[in-house]
Amino acid sequence: MLDKQAEQFIRVCYQELNKSEQEATLRIAAIKNELLLNGYYEHTFEELEYGAKMAWRNSNRCIGRLFWETLQVIDERELEQEKEVAEAMFRHIEIGTNDGKIVPTITIFKPKKSDTDYIRIFNYSLLRYAGYETELGMLGDPASVPFTKLCMEMGWRGEGTDFDLLPIVVEANGKQPQWFEIPKEIVLEVPIVHPTIEAFKDLQLKWYSTPIVSEMMLEIGGIHYTAAPFNGWYMGTEIGARNFADETRYNMLPKVASIMGLDTRQASSLWKDKALVELNVAVLYSFKEAGVSIVDHHTAAAQFRKFEEKEAQKARELTGDWTWLIPPVSPATTHIFHKEYDNQMISPNFFPNKK
Ligand code: ARG
Repeated sequence: MLDKQAEQFIRVCYQELNKSEQEATLRIAAIKNELLLNGYYEHTFEELEYGAKMAWRNSNRCIGRLFWETLQVIDERELEQEKEVAEAMFRHIEIGTNDGKIVPTITIFKPKKSDTDYIRIFNYSLLRYAGYETELGMLGDPASVPFTKLCMEMGWRGEGTDFDLLPIVVEANGKQPQWFEIPKEIVLEVPIVHPTIEAFKDLQLKWYSTPIVSEMMLEIGGIHYTAAPFNGWYMGTEIGARNFADETRYNMLPKVASIMGLDTRQASSLWKDKALVELNVAVLYSFKEAGVSIVDHHTAAAQFRKFEEKEAQKARELTGDWTWLIPPVSPATTHIFHKEYDNQMISPNFFPNKK
């Protein structure tokens, strides 16, 4: 099984890297040997780097894939200690954020070899706000409630605001998980203001600059990298139409409607839609003002179309998950809405980690 997956990966990878068939054959033979001896094989840095890029290219839910070749790959496979792993993630936050000029980056830790030889990150993303159910109601991000509870059971305490950054929780080699507070000075946050509606700032909203998904498993040639946090930059709607707008997240539409003086008594006034658009205008405007990379959904869709064209030129099958690719605001204004996509999972790819 592993040998077949390795072989399949090496063939494609080496061909795309313009290596000779002979080189691929030799490498496959070496891997098979390694597998016989250790039951395992190790990727070269080049294979790891290109494999991670391919995994991004194959990420059916991602609209940002035009930039897959620019992914910066950081190899941290030699780290064993939880603390070292946490420090590598702090470095990732700084390198990926790059003072606002965000660089798509992945940090790859050692792959899982057994139940006593692995690294796991518990966080959904390296940066995320805590959520608390209090007697006075919800505080923070409701999506974080279970994870926040876990952190508190481990002894972590937040400040009790709507925007407490959660600690990073690392588990290594079957030992007790450990938590690490993220140094405040490495986290860039953007206060949300609106270009014309002054009262927006009174909502006291902010969001962190860099989405760094950390709960997925990166699979390359049958090897399972269970800890491989990666980031791109935000598409505005992720924050403006989901994180702030979902009723099960910050649920801000009623408050936005209120500062805009909209008639919220009748759904047919389309107050939700009007509030949603201005909230998204505010997110895009604020990130730009703060010098933090962000893309609007129209530009992102146009970039995705370019990606589709490039893949066609290379005669590669395009895969995609329509339900994720369409933006949550004005989906039918993008070409994506009017097409079908094949949602097959091609390897290398990112998968949910087994709990
Ligand atoms: N939607 C997720 C969030 O708001 C982030 C997912 C990854 N997004 C990205 N632009 N790379 O935290």
